[in-house]
Amino acid sequence: ALRAAMSRAMSRAMAVFVTRRIPAEGLRVLAEAGGCRVQQWDSEEPVPRAQLLAGVSGKQGLLCLLSDRIDREVLDAAGPSLKVISTMSVGFDHLALDEIKKRGIRVGYTPDVLTDATAELSVALLLATCRRLPEAIEQVKNGGWTTWKPLWMCGYGLSNSTVGIIGLGRIGQAVARRLKPFGVKNFLYTGSRPKPESAAEFQAEFVPLTRLAEESDFVVVTCALTPDTQGMCNKDFFSRMKKTSVFINTSRGAVVNQEDLYDALVSGQIAAAGLDVTTPEPLPTDHPLLSLKNCVILPHVGSATYATRTTMSVLAADNLLAGLRGERMPHELLL
Ligand code: DGY
Repeated sequence: ALRAAMSRAMSRAMAVFVTRRIPAEGLRVLAEAGGCRVQQWDSEEPVPRAQLLAGVSGKQGLLCLLSDRIDREVLDAAGPSLKVISTMSVGFDHLALDEIKKRGIRVGYTPDVLTDATAELSVALLLATCRRLPEAIEQVKNGGWTTWKPLWMCGYGLSNSTVGIIGLGRIGQAVARRLKPFGVKNFLYTGSRPKPESAAEFQAEFVPLTRLAEESDFVVVTCALTPDTQGMCNKDFFSRMKKTSVFINTSRGAVVNQEDLYDALVSGQIAAAGLDVTTPEPLPTDHPLLSLKNCVILPHVGSATYATRTTMSVLAADNLLAGLRGERMPHELLL
């Protein structure tokens, strides 16, 4: 009881800034924590930089999203009171981790809970891209569908294919698990190191990036964005891919050199691309990639199921509170 009272008293003093309107369940966790003073940018739209800088000032906790760049300027604006940053995302490339570590700030994030939703979306995007669904739907609407034609609207199927996964982590494995029943013949993967325990389920072979590009019928990017992976899918990579191959990215836009991808799509160097992530986000509506029939672009909706977003918000709130109380976080990013 004493511990509980102490913990309540501690959290009473805690001021947190929440950078966006999030699912009500997550906010409720903070409200019910007792004494946790929440200031929120209660909007569907991102917090303007000036309001972010003002909002974090003097706070102990920050609950942010992947669209908030948390850099030295934000940390300086927060000041030495800031103890915990909890991001409602599995990705953390928007956080200046070196600076955060230097200041002894703890970081929470939301792995696992979005793996299924993101893998599901990756498969949906892959199928939509290789079987040309947006194009086909458009043909139905614009009168292009005149009759059943043997050579019309053909694409590429998964049966007997080789799938190459860049980043066989939680999401990469979940994608492979879902694709296997479609009749995929071989799985290849690449990453910073072989992961025999993860690969065994798919008999996936660890290969260099170049070989993955050369042999895969489908390339699926599910790795984290790091200095090592930034711009990794570039001209050289696409030039090694087969003309019949399909490229899918559901990780971060910056893993791809978009100019090189555009050239590969226009020249027919690769068959098609499906992107849930781009640089920048949102992609300007006049961006050249949007003019291509063989490029399917989604607005970063990998984790967008009601249940997943709710769970993410609750986990982000739980991480924040645990960090503020000096307790073990459900999911802490160890720096
Ligand atoms: C993440 O969490 O990093 C995804 O990109 C969105 O859910």
